[in-house]
Amino acid sequence: MKENSQLINNLKAKNSRICVVGMGYVGLPLALELGKHYSIVGYDIDQSLIDSLLQGRDPRGEVKSTAFADVDITFTMSESDLTDISIWIVAVPTPVTKLKSPDLRPLLSASDTVGRHLEPGSIVIYESTVYPGCTEEDCLNRLLNISQLTYPDQFNIAYSPERINPGDKVHTLTNTIKIVSGDTPETLDTVAQLYESIIEPGVHRAPTIKTAEAAKIIENTQRDLNIAFMNEISIIFDLMDINTHDVIAAAGTKWNFLKFYPGLVGGHCIGVDPYYLTYKSEELGYKPEIILAGRKVNDNLSKYVVKKILGHLAYHKIQRDKSRVLVLGITFKENVSDIRNSKVVDVVQELQHYNVSVDIYDPHVDQSELKEVYNLESIQDIGSNYDCVIAAVKHAEFATLSEQDFLDICNEEALFIDIKGAYRHLSKIEYWSL
Ligand SMILES: NC(=O)c1ccc[n+]([C@@H]2O[C@H](COP(=O)([O-])OP(=O)(O)OC[C@H]3O[C@@H](n4cnc5c(N)ncnc54)[C@H](O)[C@@H]3O)[C@@H](O)[C@H]2O)c1
Repeated sequence: MKENSQLINNLKAKNSRICVVGMGYVGLPLALELGKHYSIVGYDIDQSLIDSLLQGRDPRGEVKSTAFADVDITFTMSESDLTDISIWIVAVPTPVTKLKSPDLRPLLSASDTVGRHLEPGSIVIYESTVYPGCTEEDCLNRLLNISQLTYPDQFNIAYSPERINPGDKVHTLTNTIKIVSGDTPETLDTVAQLYESIIEPGVHRAPTIKTAEAAKIIENTQRDLNIAFMNEISIIFDLMDINTHDVIAAAGTKWNFLKFYPGLVGGHCIGVDPYYLTYKSEELGYKPEIILAGRKVNDNLSKYVVKKILGHLAYHKIQRDKSRVLVLGITFKENVSDIRNSKVVDVVQELQHYNVSVDIYDPHVDQSELKEVYNLESIQDIGSNYDCVIAAVKHAEFATLSEQDFLDICNEEALFIDIKGAYRHLSKIEYWSL
């Protein structure tokens, strides 16, 4: 293994390159930021994505075209371009299977690609969210098998979880402390130096790779559980005819009350990552109670919302197959185009299951992706005569909608469902929030 400083100096002198594997929400911004200082290869297996990136366009809309200027980066899906690389950064998806077990296929396949081109003296840094032990067991095994190099004398591994929050312009890659870890003190030093060159507040050095993996997984699991608690109390308070947001506002005046809010937990992080932890825990013989209970509450929330709507229709004797519902926002969260594991989709599909006609309106969603993945469409213009409006996602575009706007498109006995508690000022329309 080369001296650290030599590895970083070689990168700075552009005698060697960094390859970021996976040009998604995590990999692309990272590659572009590193590309201001080093020579980067941005590798992905998605041809249409690479085509867009070569034209300086992020199809996910997260990165502005200006970010592609003045960076030293080669976008490719050709393995023949994977040469002269001394640092590999793997940022590929880590989803779960239908049975909620870790689906490591993208991660292992990316490790195989790295293994095929791994040169002695290199470091492989994993950024994907995984369970503790995954980097040093599953990923390292693949690198060893494919590369035929010996470990740790010929290459090293590291883990640095990503904290990027798509759609968030305040907490960004470069202004958020990054956790780093490595298999040896020298690897840790090199990896720390690398990230320190782009992260303003610097890095936190975790003592082991497992610690860094565990830290990432509990950041998201903690959030999942806190929201699950709010969702559960929201169900309880609804039975008591108490508005949960009023309760949180009141309780939030205490110094140690944590202000989380009820909501649909979708996306491919918060609603997925806890399963990585529970999987490993169960493999080791402990069945987690709290984490799985939280997951169950959050996963069932879509059905709870639909039950509310069906109850409203029945109460007003509106036939399901003649009723019309408008859903504002279909992405998994506000101001992004990401529809992966969107729980709003679950609400829509559940309503359709009951023959309710649903209009979706979302200015952020990619129409063709929505059609391809869920066979759904987003309307161009909001219609009228709705029996229910679901304000599902708090996109900035919806902030200017007034009560009159809603009254204009709704039937007299319509119900307004405010998933995020963003329209609590409404008074002339029947209102319900989580
Ligand atoms: N998106 C987030 O907000 C976020 C935040 C923190 C951590 N993470 C974690 O980071 C990882 C990546 O997430 P993402 O949101 O960037 O995913 P993404 O789906 O946006 O992007 C992943 C990219 O990897 C590519 N890819 C898949 N398999 C590949 C392979 N074998 N070789 C090369 N490229 C391959 C895909 O084509 C895709 O473009 C996941 O583990 C995720 O949990 C995501």
